[in-house]
Amino acid sequence: MVNVTKFINEAVEAISRRAGDEKVVMALSGGVDSSVCAELAKRAVGDNLQPIYVDTGLMRKGESERICELFCDINLIMVDAAEEFFSALKGVVDPEEKRKVIGEKFIRIFEREARKTGARYLLQGTIYPDRIESEGGIKSHHNVGGMPLHIDFDGIIEPIEDLYKDEVREVAGGLHLPLEIQHRMPFPGPGLAVRVIGEVTPDKIAIVREANAIVEQELVEKYRPWQCFAALLGLGTGVKGDVRLHGWIVAVRAVASRDAMTADPIELPWEMLHRIASRITSEIPGVARVVYDITPKPPATIEYE
Ligand code: XMP
Repeated sequence: MVNVTKFINEAVEAISRRAGDEKVVMALSGGVDSSVCAELAKRAVGDNLQPIYVDTGLMRKGESERICELFCDINLIMVDAAEEFFSALKGVVDPEEKRKVIGEKFIRIFEREARKTGARYLLQGTIYPDRIESEGGIKSHHNVGGMPLHIDFDGIIEPIEDLYKDEVREVAGGLHLPLEIQHRMPFPGPGLAVRVIGEVTPDKIAIVREANAIVEQELVEKYRPWQCFAALLGLGTGVKGDVRLHGWIVAVRAVASRDAMTADPIELPWEMLHRIASRITSEIPGVARVVYDITPKPPATIEYE
């Protein structure tokens, strides 16, 4: 538990002291971490805050449009980089390689845009578990600070680096951010790419994006899971009329967790699972099969790659 008011006052004061009259640039994703950071920084440096949103083409359904609406009061730079990401991902199948390609691309694009702003400080929404997982070498964490930027900043500011996710949500409440942001599920930096096994293509992303939207529509309000989503596992056989054909296998995952270090699958009622499976197979052409993942973390991870 944090003392929210005290935390906010001290964080605003600290950002303002570090940045002075200089411009501060940040990558805004619309998740609770970067949104909290943006609000703290806005209070600290006002118009000297320059957030940049990179649309990787790997975002959820409607996400970029919504972020544009939510942050229209701060002067947000939106970068449409979908084509750049898809071409960099061509032929990449290894999960770690995929993360590296996306992380690297993100950094280069962010760097390009950040340089144009002339900012001297970089603000990041790193939280405590990100530091632990990256330091422990568990996976390549896609976070701007995790990789070298070829820009000489005077400093990196990480206002929420000591907080757990639930504490960040409390601070979001204290900052009166919209409920939608306060409760937003974590979404990985590499986006839907880690929810597609093997090579990432625009077609596969389109399928997993639709499946993901169905899972969120059905589960978020009702169960408030830590995370729920769909992943594209590969091809399997299905049947249409009396013809056997190949179709996609979609996995559905819904987990409870406190900090993502461990997680437990949620026991969903059969009717709900049935409903999700029937919506995904009937609404998304090319999907032949839906499975529900009941593996905890460990031994599984929350995401698929
Ligand atoms: P795993 O799959 O390792 O995920 O159990 C733990 C939590 O971290 C999120 N995740 C990421 N978040 N960049 C992020 O910002 C990443 O590269 C990344 N990979 C996984 C995941 O959604 C879960 O909440």
